[in-house]
Amino acid sequence: MSADAFGGLMASADPAMIVVTTVAENEPAGCLVGFHAQSSISAEHYCLWLSKANHTYRTGLRATHFAIHFLTETDHAVAEWFGTRTGETTDKFAGRGANGRVTDTDEHGLPLLRYCPNRMVVERIAMLDDGGDHACFTTRVLSAHTEGTFTPLRLSDVAHLDAGRSSESRSVHP
Ligand SMILES: Cc1cc2nc3c(=O)[nH]c(=O)nc-3n(C[C@H](O)[C@H](O)[C@H](O)COP(=O)(O)O)c2cc1C
Repeated sequence: MSADAFGGLMASADPAMIVVTTVAENEPAGCLVGFHAQSSISAEHYCLWLSKANHTYRTGLRATHFAIHFLTETDHAVAEWFGTRTGETTDKFAGRGANGRVTDTDEHGLPLLRYCPNRMVVERIAMLDDGGDHACFTTRVLSAHTEGTFTPLRLSDVAHLDAGRSSESRSVHP
């Protein structure tokens, strides 16, 4: 298989970008995610794939809930903040005054990005590790909110960013 062809096909899908936040034992985490999809209509299920290299993945292993924030075309700074730094070394939820990163906390303790109102709160159903560098978290949608139609921030808008944690840097390789 040609890696170029695979990459080209995936780039043509040009997914909308989201920021996934979660919490475990009062420790918040969150990162920029391009791998995500609706996986059922009724019941409303949603899947997201987290890199095993990420702090958010390690927190997510112990978490029950996730918030999925759909970014808009004006959210470059939010994407950069959550996609190019790792919670291993940066508290992404400190310094809450800038770049739309002001957070509220919901009843599950989840950090919600106040200026990213197009979002869902989901509850974890299962986690599938198929040996790849990302693991699939299957979830049921508990709530969804949107302020109307918006132009999404897409992968092609942020593909130049260097991920804060390379997927090659995960500690265990299959
Ligand atoms: C364009 C782009 C797409 C990304 N897509 C994903 C993804 O689908 N899943 C994921 O877990 N990380 C993805 N990342 C990587 C994380 O957002 C990044 O490594 C982040 O710094 C990890 O932060 P953490 O260690 O605090 O979790 C992507 C990064 C970029 C720049």
